[in-house]
Amino acid sequence: MAQLTPGARLKLGILISGRGSNMQALIEAWREERISADIRLVLSNKAEAAGLGLAAAAGIATAVVPYRDYPDRAAFDAAVDAKLRAAGVDFLCLAGFMRLLTPGFIEAWRDRMINIHPSLLPAFPGLDTHRRALEAGVRLAGCTVHFVRFETDTGPIVAQAAVPVLPDDDEASLAARVLAAEHRIYPLALRLIAEGRVRVIGEKALVDAPAWAAGALVNPAD
Ligand code: GRF
Repeated sequence: MAQLTPGARLKLGILISGRGSNMQALIEAWREERISADIRLVLSNKAEAAGLGLAAAAGIATAVVPYRDYPDRAAFDAAVDAKLRAAGVDFLCLAGFMRLLTPGFIEAWRDRMINIHPSLLPAFPGLDTHRRALEAGVRLAGCTVHFVRFETDTGPIVAQAAVPVLPDDDEASLAARVLAAEHRIYPLALRLIAEGRVRVIGEKALVDAPAWAAGALVNPAD
């Protein structure tokens, strides 16, 4: 696998399984030249993923690797890896990719693969995050961009956004508020990485950001 060259444009692969709205946020940032990167390939494990059409409309190469075509997870991951390498990809963004990756794949892409998760990790990893946040009665929800490690939804954190949970929220309204924040922080995190401002040291990402938010988001407001 090619190593990342400091200062070189990232050659991105984006893995999706569905709607692709985070992928679309990355595409828009790339189109507006907010990210120093080339998007080489959008790959889905599902042929019906709506995001494939969005990527194609943006002139980006797409590929489908259906899980059922392979005998096991290792063979599936090897096929995904081969497609990515053939496209020259050197950095991966998971954007609603709904398959668990094997340790071998995760190791091969260590510190060159990020994910977005709709909670303030390490709270609420896994599925049904918004339902669980509502059940727990938290006052702040949010989203996290992190490098990918073996355990689901763990890894060095690059960026987070917090949003309030409002008294009459249901899963849909909370998800929509969090999703709007996702669309802000995924391009931001990728830009910081593309600019060489993020270093992974052990299990933490050190971020040399131009600005840091100060103060607290208090909910209910004081
Ligand atoms: C997002 O909420 C993302 O955080 C999670 O899956 C959802 C994907 O949505 N990992 P989209 O396909 O990006 O619209």
